[in-house]
Amino acid sequence: MTLAELEKAQAESLAEISAAADAAAVEALRVKYIGRNGSIPALIKAMKDVPKEERPAFGKAVQAWREAVAVRLSERGAELGGACASGAKIDADLTMPGRWRGLGVKHPLTRVIEESAAIFARLGFTVADGPELENRFNNFTALNTPAHHPSMDRSDTFWFGDDCLLRTQTSPVQIRTMMANKPPIRVICPGRTYRRDTTDATHSANFHQIEGLYVDTKEKPVSLADLKSVLAYFAKEMMGDGVTVRFRPHFFPFTEPSVEVDFSCHVCKGKGCNVCKQSGWIEVAGAGMVDPRVFEFVGYDPAEVSGYAFGFGVERIAMIKYGIPDIRWLYENDIRFLNQLG
Ligand code: PHE
Repeated sequence: MTLAELEKAQAESLAEISAAADAAAVEALRVKYIGRNGSIPALIKAMKDVPKEERPAFGKAVQAWREAVAVRLSERGAELGGACASGAKIDADLTMPGRWRGLGVKHPLTRVIEESAAIFARLGFTVADGPELENRFNNFTALNTPAHHPSMDRSDTFWFGDDCLLRTQTSPVQIRTMMANKPPIRVICPGRTYRRDTTDATHSANFHQIEGLYVDTKEKPVSLADLKSVLAYFAKEMMGDGVTVRFRPHFFPFTEPSVEVDFSCHVCKGKGCNVCKQSGWIEVAGAGMVDPRVFEFVGYDPAEVSGYAFGFGVERIAMIKYGIPDIRWLYENDIRFLNQLG
């Protein structure tokens, strides 16, 4: 093909494209001229047969033709309406709103754990972590719970051999923290715990606790009043203004004295409603002053240190904070439920 022939072919091809009647015709011309087996790529492949001196000019002319065809194809496609640059018709309404992909929300348990960590951080507590598989010493013995102690009944479960179990509480992280550090210690330990519980609306064999521990030297003795003020601050920050805290005497092997901790009902403000079963109070935690025996087990001198510990259920807080009537909803991962709390 000479340069003159090439010019003529170009003019013809552009005229042909301009005359295309619909998008299908435009597409057919795209294939004919610039498709993989089209006539222009064929010319490029045949360049080696063009005499060497003519090759640069010829090459330039072929490229220009190719570009002119591509431009005309997309112009013609647009003229025919609703067609894209390749000439293919888009079978879609471009004015329709796009598809929205939800961003997702944090799980209520994650939110309670993160919020608790932030509240206690303001009081100087850091977050400590421990394994879910514990040994007997950390989960029981050092927490002043010898084998065959009656309080083992409710928790003596999920053993792997003689000395390894799924922890029944986050309290073993107290032991780990004290064995690895000297007072003053101020930590909270959020984590998963396991019990031999039959699942129902308020029980689950697998749940979460947040343990708290404060131990200081005898220059700064720690009292039950300190514990109460910290939990009252937590209650107010977590549940809102006006929530107060009450202590009821209780027993835990690792604290003395021990208390159960109630928050005044945040819904009825203590007057009595369905949420608090008319009592005005909601039980949320166990707590007390660290038993001297526990200090001995971790190698502290009970005459030199004092401290308090508390442990509350994350599910419990989430259920009362968000008004969730059934603990199982927290584990079913039903997006319709989770999205309501986002
Ligand atoms: N570990 C106790 C429980 O699971 C709660 C607790 C923690 C009580 C710390 C006192 C001090 O019931």
